[in-house]
Amino acid sequence: MHTITEILKQIEDYVKEKLQDDTSGHDWFHIERVRKLAITISEKEQANRFICEAAALLHDVIDDKIVDDEEQAVIGVEELLNELGVAKSDCIHIIEIITTMSFKGGSQHGMSTIEGKVVQDADRIDALGAIGIARTFMYAGAKGHPMHDPKIPPRLKTMSKEEYRNGKSTAMNHFYEKLLKLKSRINTETALQIAEERHTVIEQFVEDFLEEWQGDGSNEKLTH
Ligand code: ADP
Ligand code: NI
Repeated sequence: MHTITEILKQIEDYVKEKLQDDTSGHDWFHIERVRKLAITISEKEQANRFICEAAALLHDVIDDKIVDDEEQAVIGVEELLNELGVAKSDCIHIIEIITTMSFKGGSQHGMSTIEGKVVQDADRIDALGAIGIARTFMYAGAKGHPMHDPKIPPRLKTMSKEEYRNGKSTAMNHFYEKLLKLKSRINTETALQIAEERHTVIEQFVEDFLEEWQGDGSNEKLTH
């Protein structure tokens, strides 16, 4: 028998190992932040903490950014949870959450359980605020996208997963294509409070960025 703490530690080790080889900028620190946010939100929303924590830890290891074969990755997670003696119903629940929560171009999967809502909210919050801005530019840099190009318009229609992942865009467009929409998609009241502040941060950033892009400083309060 494993205790919940032991199970979570084993899951943590599994995730760390899987993310080790990742070159897409998907780091363990993101997972750690999502885990913490999920715990905070789950407590306020009275969700099952174990399910939220396990799903937060595992949410990126089955993603197509990390693995070539998503189905195989899901089987790997199932095997791990089985070996750790996680109840079948919990295992199904965790897998259901991690396979349905991703954004990937805007396809809207409503999360069917409070735990799913919590983990999806936690992941979305980490895409907002100062961290969200930093992650956006890291991602764009890694993909070789420009930070901004007024000639490339944002792709505002719902995109297929392939378009979303592989289409050329810019870091600034990502704010319009995804980040500024996230607040309206937050599931829980607790997460909304956090998301609202971080939404304001990115909104202000976009405004400042575009103003500075003009380069003439005309809208800035110049003090002599
Ligand atoms: P996650 O499920 O962890 O949010 P994503 O791969 O969707 O993973 O995103 C990783 C980070 O990169 C997020 O902060 C996201 O906002 C950002 N990102 C995703 N796609 C783009 C893009 N096309 N341009 C810039 N940033 C992006
Ligand atoms: Ni994530």
